Formats: sequence, structure tokens, C-alpha cells
Amino acid sequence: MNRPSASWAGRHVLVSAGPTYEDIDPVRFIGNRSSGKMGFAIAAAAARRGATVTLVAGPVHLPTPEGVRRIDVRSAAQMHAAVLAQLPATIYFGAAAVADFTPATVTADKLKKRAGQDTMTLELVRTEDILADVARHHARPTRVVGFAAETGELDGYARDKLQRKHVDLICANRVGVAGSGFEADDNTLVVHGHGIERTLGPASKAAVADALLDLVEQEFADVP
Ligand code: PMT
Repeated sequence: MNRPSASWAGRHVLVSAGPTYEDIDPVRFIGNRSSGKMGFAIAAAAARRGATVTLVAGPVHLPTPEGVRRIDVRSAAQMHAAVLAQLPATIYFGAAAVADFTPATVTADKLKKRAGQDTMTLELVRTEDILADVARHHARPTRVVGFAAETGELDGYARDKLQRKHVDLICANRVGVAGSGFEADDNTLVVHGHGIERTLGPASKAAVADALLDLVEQEFADVP
């Protein structure tokens, strides 16, 4: 973590972090277990290297890293709008756990259970894919880095996302186990790129973030 402080000077690093909350009614939402730690660690590491860093954060309980400009959002739609509004950027790291589906309608009043009601069906609709939209944007960052949170097989899904979302790197991490992924202080990333496969960690999320920035520096000489 002892980087020359200005080695990323002149770069705009855009990071998304944390969960999204998809409101059902005024008191309930669909969320997930992301704490924001991984994305915040990447933002902090980039700022330490002298980059201009914009962090779009879902609802998390973390202090803003030093030297980082933070934009707080709640829903996937808000995160989508906020991230695209921050382009152009040199590199985008999509570390947020964005909801894939959101309720089709948000009721103005709290949903009530009716007498005798044993089940309830919520209609969900797809959210927009922020990572894919950044990757095909006319102001596409020079490099786009996505994440893949998996409970089972890591590599196949990660490689699929690499191709399907037209990104440069996908960082696969295991979730649903202790010591990596959601909420943990440590993580292990299996990073897939075109001709690239590297494992970073297990280590603290701060150390893994620094290793990821090192990898970007080593592999992508074209980043301005
Ligand atoms: O926040 P922490 O507690 O530190 O945990 C870190 C983490 C596990 C959340 C993080 O390392 C991680 O894996 N983030 C991505 C989680 C995720 O939503 O993965 P996914 O496989 O569902 O999505 C793949 C990629 O598409 C991700 O880059 C995601 O940001 C992006 N995506 C997904 C859906 C959507 N609508 N828009 C997106 O941009």
C-alpha cells in the first residue's frame, strides 16, 4: 500500500459500491447483504494513488474515504442514473450489488394482509444493467471492470459476464461463505480478462483493492 501518491493523477476513477434497496411500499424494500467495503476499498486505493475518484454508494454505513467524492443513492434506477451522469471516466469499477429486479409498482400506502391471506405475489421487473450500459456508452471508460458474486462455480459465470457485458475484467468472488464476499473484511478475487486469469488474496479488502489496481496498471498500458 506504499504507492507513489501521484501515480494515478489525471485519471478519473468511477466506482459503484454497496447494495441497492428496491422499495415495495413506504416501509419495506428488497435489499441484499453488500456492506460496500469492497467498493470503498477500491475508491480509497485509487485516491491514495492520486486519482480523481467518484464513488456512487448505495445505502451503507461506511465513512467516505479521504479524497473521494461520494454520491449516495438508494435504488438500482438511481444508481444507474448517477453512474452514467459521472461519465466520462478513465476506469469504472462496478463493485455494487445491484438488484436485478425491482417491484413493478411501489404502493403509496403500507401493504396490508387480508384476513385468510396465506400467500402473496410480488411482480418484479428487470432493472437496467449499469455495467453493460457503461461498457457500451459513447463515453465508455478506457477500462471497465465488473464483479461477479457467485455461490457456486466461479469461473464459468465470470467468463460469461466478461463476454456478455463487454467488459475488460470480471472479478469473481464467492458469496454466502465466511471470509469472503458480502460483509467480510477479507476477500479473494479471481480476476478474468481477455488472456488474463489471476487470483488476488485471500487478504483484507484494502490489500485486494491495491492488488487489483496493480493488475490494471500491469495489464493495461493504454490507460491514459
Ligand atoms: O460490499 P461488500 O460487503 O464488501 O461485498 C462485496 C461484493 C461481494 C458486493 C462485491 O465484491 C461484488 O461481488 N459485487 C458485485 C455483486 C453482484 O451484484 O454481482 P452480480 O454477479 O449480480 O453482477 C455482475 C456485475 O453486474 C456486477 O459488476 C454488478 O455491479 C453489475 N450489475 C448487475 C445488475 C445490474 N442491474 N447492474 C449492474 O451493473
